[in-house]
Amino acid sequence: TDRYAVIGNPISHSQSPFIHTEFARACQLDIQYEKLFAELDKFEQVVAEFVAAGGKGMNVTLPFKGNAYRMATELTERARAAEAVNTLSFRDGKVYGDNTDGVGLVRDIVENLDFPIAGQRVLILGAGGAVRGVLAPILEQKPAALTIANRTLIKAEALAHQFAAWGEISATGYERLEGKTFDLVINATSTSLSNELPPVPYGVFTARTLAYDMVYSKGLTPFLKRAQSENAGMLADGLGMLVEQAAESFSIWHGVQPETRKVTNMLRDVLA
Ligand code: ATR
Repeated sequence: TDRYAVIGNPISHSQSPFIHTEFARACQLDIQYEKLFAELDKFEQVVAEFVAAGGKGMNVTLPFKGNAYRMATELTERARAAEAVNTLSFRDGKVYGDNTDGVGLVRDIVENLDFPIAGQRVLILGAGGAVRGVLAPILEQKPAALTIANRTLIKAEALAHQFAAWGEISATGYERLEGKTFDLVINATSTSLSNELPPVPYGVFTARTLAYDMVYSKGLTPFLKRAQSENAGMLADGLGMLVEQAAESFSIWHGVQPETRKVTNMLRDVLA
């Protein structure tokens, strides 16, 4: 039985063992997938012990995606762009690092929600690690324009500058969104975690706008409540992204792309 794990701090609430176990069951694969907690200064040690014990792969969650990026000896282009790794594979003494967050988000939006990003005006709120991780795959969809809004403008400007080669991207402060509308608005700030709302002005949502919160929760997040109150065309939280990024990791490790919809529905029921 091959061993896999998810590592984080905290880790107790991770749904990854459930998701990967369900995928493996559906694909009739025999794997073991566990949760690993690491003290903040023990990430490398815990990974090394897992590899020594025969571990084949690992998902990496907060706050260790940068550590995993630095630990990888081989990186995919999307992991390099993200400067973060959420999927490690251990083979032949090498440490392969990839990042499936962006492709997970894009698949949830384009395939599950049937909302093509190509040609659309996209607004992303926030400029932290969650944003950096998804910019390359979003820009690969060729939106008409991608605007990054952040409270600390200079962080948004740095990202826009860094990703300029990937496509049409610009940075702005929240106040300058006044009077503009967008087809897709993605909340990638950490505000939902503290039950807050990013300071997005009224009027950015239209009846055709998809409002997407990268955080998932039982009820609507404050951001999604605001979008609903402005009659945004469609609302979605990040549960689909969570399952899609797991599916992509699963396919990296096992060479099969698992069915996601059933697992997402099962998780939704667990949350409800
Ligand atoms: P992550 O890795 O999850 O992106 P992060 O790097 O700490 O976490 O980034 C958090 C993001 O949420 C940042 O864009 C932050 O804005 P600043 O860069 O200005 O700090 C944003 N954020 C957090 N709380 C916020 C709030 N109350 N209003 C607006 N933006 C907020």
